[in-house]
Amino acid sequence: MIPARKTSLMTKQPDEKTRQLHNVYDSQSANETAEIYDGWADDYEAHMAGVGYSHPAMVASMLCRHQKTGNAPMLDAGAGTGIMAEILGALGYPAIFGFDASPGMLRLAKARDIYADLRVARLGEPLDYETNQFAAAVASGVFTQGHAPLSGLNELIRITRPGGHIVFSIARSYLGSAFAEVASELEQQGKWHQADATQRYDSTPMGQDNLMAQVFAFRVE
Ligand SMILES: C[S@@+](CC[C@H](N)C(=O)[O-])C[C@H]1O[C@@H](n2cnc3c(N)ncnc32)[C@H](O)[C@@H]1O
Repeated sequence: MIPARKTSLMTKQPDEKTRQLHNVYDSQSANETAEIYDGWADDYEAHMAGVGYSHPAMVASMLCRHQKTGNAPMLDAGAGTGIMAEILGALGYPAIFGFDASPGMLRLAKARDIYADLRVARLGEPLDYETNQFAAAVASGVFTQGHAPLSGLNELIRITRPGGHIVFSIARSYLGSAFAEVASELEQQGKWHQADATQRYDSTPMGQDNLMAQVFAFRVE
């Protein structure tokens, strides 16, 4: 059921932050998505703070249940402007590598001077990292409509060490059967095993939409 506050807000024209979110969810191609983020990068964090964006906190909390702190290399897939590195660094994970499809978002992530390495790359395509390179991988706000395809999980599995965890949010049209089918197929292939999951939550509780999501942790086999 939609809370009364949101129902009244939704009768209004979308505000600027909601319009940007709608633009990217409606994107028809990977190039279009990257271009939208390039143009949005400078305002992205202020807009997301304004809607109470909660994926980074949810993903980081879930990671902490499964990955001990220390210098082991971690991957932030779809790093954006680097919000996750800020959180993970403070939590005791100093060796963070990252990539994103949008050079404009990465420019801001680089300015934080936290990442050990940052590069432009796309989930859904081969990733230029070594097999078993990372102790764990995270992806916050990336596996959702108009963003990375679920096929991108295969490369994350390849580059995460056996026993390591991949922790990521799943939202919008991916939530439910679309993700469940992919997850179950990968499990049947012996590639990973579900270790944990959150309840569903609204990832933008102060925004105009109800953007329901769930965070999962899978252990790589
Ligand atoms: C909602 S933002 C999340 C950024 C960051 N993880 C955070 O939580 O603030 C989504 C990010 O995914 C990136 N992205 C979208 N499709 C991608 C893909 N196929 N591969 C890598 N990054 C992608 C976008 O460029 C954008 O930076």
